[in-house]
Formats: sequence, structure tokens, C-alpha cells
Amino acid sequence: MKKRIAVLLSNKGTGSNLAAILKAIDEKKIRNGRVVVVVSNKDDAYGLVRARERQIRTVVFDLKDFRQKGKTRREYDEALGKLLKEKYRIDLVVLAGWMLILSDAFIKYFPNKAINLHPSLLPDVGEEYIIYKNKIKIKPIRGEHTDMAVQFAIDKHYPIAGSTVHFITPVVDCGPVIIRSEVEIQPDDSAETLFARMKVEEHEILPQAIAWFCEDKLRIKKIGKVEIV
Ligand code: GRF
Repeated sequence: MKKRIAVLLSNKGTGSNLAAILKAIDEKKIRNGRVVVVVSNKDDAYGLVRARERQIRTVVFDLKDFRQKGKTRREYDEALGKLLKEKYRIDLVVLAGWMLILSDAFIKYFPNKAINLHPSLLPDVGEEYIIYKNKIKIKPIRGEHTDMAVQFAIDKHYPIAGSTVHFITPVVDCGPVIIRSEVEIQPDDSAETLFARMKVEEHEILPQAIAWFCEDKLRIKKIGKVEIV
């Protein structure tokens, strides 16, 4: 049975990673999965348009509406998890430009079954830095929105930036790493030019991580390292 995938995004990005996932499915790079629903917390996310063009179900799950009904942020997470698990019978949640940090109230529905695409290089669980060329310590940029994370790497004069796909855990941007892509920072890079190159890589690593997941190739070891079998 093909794995049922939900892609969560927002109106901050353009849904280009959703498009890359759908392309990888079309090209059979992801063989054992299909996107059954695309969720945004805002109704003007371009990813919703992309999904509708492909006749994929969309859900706008607006936090503001929720709050207006007197409900808490935790109840929002709980309701979203329940919806995806029970109504859509989701096997894998993919956060691709989703902006809200999801607590354990959501994660308990998808233990080791929800992955995030993060626009910086994250080290393995238990490690503080990425070490570049055996000497330069690249500090992880966690909990920042995309533009801040990309600019941070430039401001710190890092030689490289990149993106990471990792499992989500209740500690933000600290879950087991599945795959990273490194991109060299050029002296004349702006956040825009650097991010454009990072995205080209993201469009490879996110579908790759999904393909591995769908083929049951990912094992999380006790120490939080991911092994691809
Ligand atoms: C990605 O670059 C990802 O790293 C970040 O949000 C961005 C979404 O981009 N979390 P897009 O909407 O898929 O183009």
C-alpha cells in the first residue's frame, strides 16, 4: 500500500517543495507514496493553488479562527494531529514551509512519522556544530524563519549554508537528521541569491527523504542517528 502523505505549508513560501515532491512522484523517484492532503494555516498560500491544480485535497487550518472560538494553541495542535491521523489516515507528515511550531500534542499522533525541511545545516542529535573541512564550526540556526536563517549564515561569514531534513520531536529543530545539502556561500551572495541555490538542493533532498521513508528504509538508532537501510 502506498504511504499516505500530508504536506503542511504556509503563505510564506511558494510551495516549490510541494511541486518538487509531486514531480518526484510523477517521475517515480518516490514510488511508494502519494500526497493525499495539503494543509496551510493561511488561505492565501500558493501551495494550495498548486495542490488544487493537481486535484489534491486542501485544508486551511487557521489558528486565528481557532483562537476566536476560545481554544488554545495546544488544542489547535491536538486537533490538527487528530484530523490528519483519523480523517486522512496519514502515514507521513511533511513540513515544507509550515510556520507554526508543533508541540507534542501534535507529534504524539506521528511519532517518527513527521519530517521537517529546515533552511540551515543542523547537526546530528547530541552534537553542537557541523564541522566543515575538519576545522570550521557551523553553528545551527534553530527556530528562525527562513529569511532570518539564510541571512544569519551570511552575517556569520560561514563558508557554507544549506538545508536539513529531519524528524520532528518536541524540541524544535533538534530531531534526528535524515539528509542535508550543503551550499557554498559566495562573497557577493545576498540572502536571495544564496537561498535560490539552496532551494535547488532542497528540491532533491526532500523528495529523497520521502522516498526512503516510503520504502521503510529509515531506522532511528537509540542515539538519535538515522540509518538508511
Ligand atoms: C523552504 O525553503 C524550507 O527550507 C523552509 O520553508 C521554505 C518553503 O519553500 N522551511 P517553498 O514554499 O517550498 O518554496
